[in-house]
Amino acid sequence: MKSKLKRFEINASRENVIEPGKEIYFEIKGNWKKTYFKNAHPLTIELACGRGEYSVGLARKFPDQNFVGIDVKGDRLWKGSTWAFEEGLKNAGFLRTQILNIESFFEENEADQIWLTFPDPRPRKRDIKRRLTSPRFLEMFKKILKADGWFRFKTDNTGLFNYTLEEINQRPDIRDSAFTHDLYNSDLRAECYDIKTRYEEIFTAAGEKIKYLQFRFVK
Ligand SMILES: C[S@@+](CC[C@H](N)C(=O)[O-])C[C@H]1O[C@@H](n2cnc3c(N)ncnc32)[C@H](O)[C@@H]1O
Repeated sequence: MKSKLKRFEINASRENVIEPGKEIYFEIKGNWKKTYFKNAHPLTIELACGRGEYSVGLARKFPDQNFVGIDVKGDRLWKGSTWAFEEGLKNAGFLRTQILNIESFFEENEADQIWLTFPDPRPRKRDIKRRLTSPRFLEMFKKILKADGWFRFKTDNTGLFNYTLEEINQRPDIRDSAFTHDLYNSDLRAECYDIKTRYEEIFTAAGEKIKYLQFRFVK
């Protein structure tokens, strides 16, 4: 297993890792297709991607689409970056940033789809603002997502899932929503392609059912 420092060193020289210190980091907003992927294919973002199982899994499945995994932790991104690099997947990239800064990296309507995979549940009341499905984050995601774009959210955590359902139920700008508290016994299973993330494996082994929600914004 490579040390964190070694991973950071590799990330610094990897073309598929976009992070502070690289020129492209400051120029990528609005330019993912033109500057990075160099094609006009649809763009999916995976938020809180960790090792990026969805970014890489979907990139394998959909060679004619582009995928960007976002996480603040470079050692986790290194894993996804390495899978993509070793498999020659040119349609997957990884952005190291705080999601709070997402609008510095994506133009309005730049994303065709957003996945949010097993974000930290932030159960404490004082951390509600930090939940990635709290109103300020949903507003940002709405901006960068195209009008027809799907928002897809997968979690093991019942508290965060129910909080999110309450949030979207009280918003007037949500359409086409569908959800399940038990993905693997649901018609929605096909929407997720049976891709399992690291945290999904961990929580499934601990007996948690996987929850899933999809919706679109009215824009
Ligand atoms: C529970 S892990 C899930 C990782 C992966 N999606 C999975 O399912 O295996 C949550 C991830 O979100 C990242 N994260 C949490 N808050 C973040 C934020 N505000 N901005 C960027 N990444 C964040 C963490 O670094 C961590 O990798």
